[in-house]
Amino acid sequence: MSELKNDRFLRALQRQPVDRTPVWMMRQAGRYLPEYRATRKQAGSFLDLCKNAELACEVTMQPLRRYPMDAAILFSDILTVPDALGLGLYFEEGEGPRFRKTVRSEEDLAGLNSFTADDDLAYVMNAVRTIRAELNGKVPLIGFSGSPWTLATYMVEGGSSKDFANVKGMAYDKPALMHGLLSLLADAVADYLAAQIRAGAQAVQIFDTWGGSLSAAGYREFSLAYMQRIITRLQGQPETRDVPVIVFTKGGGQWLTSIADCGAQGVGIDWTTDIALARAEVGDRVALQGNMDPSMLFASPARIREEVASILAGFGHGSGHIFNLGHGITPGVNPDHVTAFVDAVQELSPQYHLGD
Ligand code: CP3
Repeated sequence: MSELKNDRFLRALQRQPVDRTPVWMMRQAGRYLPEYRATRKQAGSFLDLCKNAELACEVTMQPLRRYPMDAAILFSDILTVPDALGLGLYFEEGEGPRFRKTVRSEEDLAGLNSFTADDDLAYVMNAVRTIRAELNGKVPLIGFSGSPWTLATYMVEGGSSKDFANVKGMAYDKPALMHGLLSLLADAVADYLAAQIRAGAQAVQIFDTWGGSLSAAGYREFSLAYMQRIITRLQGQPETRDVPVIVFTKGGGQWLTSIADCGAQGVGIDWTTDIALARAEVGDRVALQGNMDPSMLFASPARIREEVASILAGFGHGSGHIFNLGHGITPGVNPDHVTAFVDAVQELSPQYHLGD
């Protein structure tokens, strides 16, 4: 495969010297871009878009044509795994993701399909291979999965949830059933990420969007332990050992010391965390990714630039920071405000790497 021309993102993940802070955005391909909406229309639906390697590649590339991002992220969704397990994923306009079936009993758990990523999510691996070829070494490609806990929230609730009544009820009241589901998901996710790496992903991120809904003890037991299991599995196989892992727990700011122990090279932080404090706590062990409030993109370009400056100053001098938002970009954002965001990181960050 072609040589990587821009390895800032991978170097920063290993806390090796870089000329400036690398930047990419969670959900960088998406509805805020008119060209994304056009391609999605062409595909028919969001799921058809995910299943078509050429179109998934096209939307992965769209943000890179507009902005000098330092990484590409596979265009797919975390819910492809529960879909392949047999739950029947669909999207109701304006209502978010839904499943035809839920997992709330031992029988439901036993009824899930057996899963092999290379066979059951072959369309994702095709997309990874197509994107790697198209990138031709321009920037690294990030693969991803949901965390077992976050996938479980959708599988037990049957879709998005505000209070997580069913899934948290199950965790706290029927822990054996919950652990059965989470073990199955950890096996599936480890296999899924390994398959993405074999297909060409050069780093992988585990999105733990709902880990922050748990208690501190609940987080360690039901979320962190399973992400750790996945990372240990990846680090135990020669073909996946050297590929860095980023763990992003939204709402995990108060648990950074335990998260930094899970074996990941990078830890994503949301915008509620002070990046200076996060660096003081765990910056000697992991790279930090984040953490501008996605809503800051609704402010003026001047205000966005100020915020970027303040986050860069908060992290301070040296490598180990990957600039990102603190969560995915919101659909209504003006694409020109993203230009202001990325330009500010490019222009203001070199001073923090001088002499390295
Ligand atoms: O970052 C990227 O650009 C890569 C693509 C990506 C998508 N989803 C595309 C997508 C990634 C990494 C995800 C992850 C994902 N999906 C998460 C974890 C990250 C996070 O943001 O918390 C979660 C919880 C999901 C589940 C999911 N899929 C939701 C809640 C939605 C939104 C539903 C809605 O209508 O608002 C989706 C759909 C989805 N995934 C879209 C995109 C671009 C929008 C689909 C569309 O309408 O075109």
